[in-house]
Amino acid sequence: MPRVEVIGVRKRFGDVEALRGVDLSIEDGEYVCIIGPSGCGKTTLLRIIAGLIPPDEGHVYIDGKLVNGVPPEDRGLGFAFQNIALFPHMSVLDNVAYGLRVRGKDASFSKKVAREMLRISPIEISPKALPRELSGGAAQAVAIARALATGAKLLLLDEPLGALDARVRVSMRYELRRIVKDLGLTAIHVTHNQAEAMSIADKVVVMRSGRVMQVGAPRELFWQPQNLFVAYFVGEITLLEGYIVERSEDRCLIELREGLQLVSTCPERARGDHVVAAIRPERVKLYASEVGGENVLRGKVLSARVLTGVLRYEVLLENGETLLVKEILTHAKRRVLPETSVWVQIPPQSILLFDYPSIGLMREISLE
Ligand SMILES: Nc1ncnc2c1ncn2[C@@H]1O[C@H](COP(=O)(O)OP(=O)(O)O)[C@@H](O)[C@H]1O
Ligand SMILES: [Mg+2]
Repeated sequence: MPRVEVIGVRKRFGDVEALRGVDLSIEDGEYVCIIGPSGCGKTTLLRIIAGLIPPDEGHVYIDGKLVNGVPPEDRGLGFAFQNIALFPHMSVLDNVAYGLRVRGKDASFSKKVAREMLRISPIEISPKALPRELSGGAAQAVAIARALATGAKLLLLDEPLGALDARVRVSMRYELRRIVKDLGLTAIHVTHNQAEAMSIADKVVVMRSGRVMQVGAPRELFWQPQNLFVAYFVGEITLLEGYIVERSEDRCLIELREGLQLVSTCPERARGDHVVAAIRPERVKLYASEVGGENVLRGKVLSARVLTGVLRYEVLLENGETLLVKEILTHAKRRVLPETSVWVQIPPQSILLFDYPSIGLMREISLE
């Protein structure tokens, strides 16, 4: 039985349609991340699941039970929201124990659980400290500990790592997942950081303008995006506009701008189709000298950057468009310098084809 089921949820704030009919199913024990551009409705969805605000339409089920109208404290969930502050006059320990105290547990038991939750926190925090003595990151860790200490099996987290600096943030995300898994919880974690979601989630929900665009395992979203927005939002990708000018049994020829041509595998496409060819940089090969084979294009390196474990190139193609290429960085690998002439090879089966959007490519992928 799924732990959380959201069916047809809509929410409007005045003129703003924050949620335009959201359906979502979350299984017991899953670590789910919700991503999407700022303002797409992530926080609103989480607040509706928590019971902090009611939906205008639709239903929320938790453990098979309809919870519309049930107050947050009776939904069996713990939450840590960006804007929910700690109690300023209470120590860290009392803040963490608070959830248990309001549920009627006695003081010594509540404090024992709170101590345990602080002990497993990845950031060391003095239980006696007052909230104003904490850094932003430590305050977030306390808020998470407080959510965990309630003993709830469902954890809702809104940008829980947002106040941490980049380095701590990366280690903390794995810790958070480990704690959730160790305690056998179900977690819904909202983040605007897609790399964070892709590295820790069992399942990622991509939202845009109040709608769910795709739900899937990180690798599904990356390699089989269902639409251009997801393809563009998750990871990096090159998008090239073109027309299908020929097709055979299992291949088609795409004419890009300035007559540049690419061969692609292409089910369900016909001659004349206006398309966008989407190419993950990880699938492109870069050569310093000319090679034979399908889809070998000439280009010139515009930029060459060394990222963690990866070389990232921008290659100017002969038609004036830019292709991204990423190679795994190895000892033997030399960075090809800018201005160098190169050849790139794009395997036909690696090209993802989408219909050219009627509203135009830029608007289709815009983050507004
Ligand atoms: N209480 C509110 N009153 C008015 N508008 C709101 C309120 N909460 C959210 N919104 C609007 O609803 C949209 C979705 O907001 P939100 O769920 O906070 O997005 P996200 O968390 O994805 O950034 C935004 O346009 C936001 O301005
Ligand atoms: Mg938000």
